[in-house]
Amino acid sequence: MTPSPSQREYQAITKGRDPRNRLNDLSGAAWVHFLNSVDVTHYPTRGPESYGHDLRRVHPSPKPPQLMARYIEFFTRRGGWVLDPFAGVGGTLLGCGLLARQGRERYAVGIELSPQYVEIYHQVCQREGLPPQTMICGDARDLLRFPAVTERTFDLILTDPPYADMMARPRSGEQRKREGHTMPRPFSDSEADLGNLDRETFLDTLQRILADALTRLRPKGHLVVFCKDLQPTETEHNMLHVYITERLMAIPGLRFRGYKIWADQVQRLYPFGYPYTFVANQLHQFALIFRKEH
Ligand SMILES: C[S@@+](CC[C@H](N)C(=O)[O-])C[C@H]1O[C@@H](n2cnc3c(N)ncnc32)[C@H](O)[C@@H]1O
Repeated sequence: MTPSPSQREYQAITKGRDPRNRLNDLSGAAWVHFLNSVDVTHYPTRGPESYGHDLRRVHPSPKPPQLMARYIEFFTRRGGWVLDPFAGVGGTLLGCGLLARQGRERYAVGIELSPQYVEIYHQVCQREGLPPQTMICGDARDLLRFPAVTERTFDLILTDPPYADMMARPRSGEQRKREGHTMPRPFSDSEADLGNLDRETFLDTLQRILADALTRLRPKGHLVVFCKDLQPTETEHNMLHVYITERLMAIPGLRFRGYKIWADQVQRLYPFGYPYTFVANQLHQFALIFRKEH
């Protein structure tokens, strides 16, 4: 029987896979391609390959499903399970849907506090014909109370937490220009929203949620956390990726394996500071990569 186009694509990516490779289904070439430490992308935000970006853009920082699919494909095998405790409008879940549509099935469970974002995720799946994954509308702090989370183990936790309150303070247009502020707006005014917490409470809560999630990750499974740094102040470097890495390294059995950088060419370059002083733009994010050792 002639293979379908999706079967052909799957065969091309997996051809020559090393039999010792238990992590993913990739060939050596596809594996090495992923090792590039900087991914510069320009995923479409219009048209059929934007996968409902016109709906998802209600969210201040939706992740491109194609980007998430790359991480999922590297850190899982066909039939693998992925957990996203801060699922937003579903970048991770849609990434699984994209792979499934190409015959490279992965399954996901997402948790998202906002009913509006959950609803948008379902609308995107329906309109784009992508298989819906399990999306729970709830609080990630209660993650171990959801049967969809506790009834299985996961191969990958892939998530993009909200950022701490430091940047949520209102800023005037002139302040924005001088200080630089490309961070998303706060997601909601809910007390349960991690985006509304001060930095230390945010880090404590994130550490606790991810420690709970890690009890559902298989040994040797990976945790990938996307994050973006904040602008420095006089006294704080505000490199959120450093604070998060230190907190997660304190979780017993979890080992930091390094990071990749995602440079999103869709982001606009703002003339922060001009013509007075240097202010950094942040057109990139960190993907912090950890492995559960046992
Ligand atoms: C950076 S966004 C994730 C975006 C997502 N990757 C996407 O593609 O849409 C973080 C999300 O965490 C959600 N959130 C904040 N606190 C939460 C909580 N306690 N439980 C579950 N979700 C929460 C916010 O509503 C927000 O949508």
